Amino acid sequence: MYCPSFPLETARLLIRPVADADLDDLCAYHRLPEVVAYLPWTVQTREETREVIEKRKTTVYLDKEGDALALGVALKETGRLIGEMFLFWRSEPNQQGELGFVFHPDFHGRGYAREAAERMLAVGFEDLRWHRIFALCDTRNTASARLLERLGMRQEAHFKGSKLFKGEWNEELIYAVRRDEWLARPSSG
Ligand SMILES: CC(C)(COP(=O)(O)OP(=O)(O)OC[C@H]1O[C@@H](n2cnc3c(N)ncnc32)[C@H](O)[C@@H]1OP(=O)(O)O)[C@@H](O)C(=O)NCCC(=O)NCCS
Repeated sequence: MYCPSFPLETARLLIRPVADADLDDLCAYHRLPEVVAYLPWTVQTREETREVIEKRKTTVYLDKEGDALALGVALKETGRLIGEMFLFWRSEPNQQGELGFVFHPDFHGRGYAREAAERMLAVGFEDLRWHRIFALCDTRNTASARLLERLGMRQEAHFKGSKLFKGEWNEELIYAVRRDEWLARPSSG
């Protein structure tokens, strides 16, 4: 079983399990249509977000393929929870994982998502020694595509109508990076 030693730290952020005390911070963006537009869930009531917190309490370790780390991202300076990061264990034999993220719009455009995502890629490649990490992204989600490119992930596929997403046929991009590519990235020194 893999359980990170919490909090995972970056220059400005602490990545850690979501707690009951995060309810207001989570509700602040889980209720916004623009935030969930390209996520596989719809806007949530306060009660639904409370249920999400209960579920998130179990997604803090990886035991087997299919498990996920679903963690909160808090500002070091204030302790406020500003987003969440997801790392899904997609295949044990192929050592593959999937990255996901969501942040409160008030905290977009400051590099926080990138900072947290880089830390999660380090978990996948350094701690778990996965071979490849991929991410899915709606073609309309330009902020997400830009982030994935900044992370050094490459577009590998463009699916047109591969699944029904919120009542419409999707247009979806797959971005990915392999461990060897990630280790050779310029920022690794
Ligand atoms: C996807 C999402 C997380 C991207 O967030 P983001 O804030 O744009 O991403 P980053 O952390 O990489 O921030 C990058 C921006 O911050 C700017 N920035 C400002 N200060 C910075 C700093 N200190 N370091 C790095 N970048 C900084 C960058 O220049 C960049 O600006 P640009 O987008 O105009 O080029 C966000 O749009 C989101 O939560 N969307 C809703 C949920 C969602 O769709 N999730 C993805 C599903 S696939």
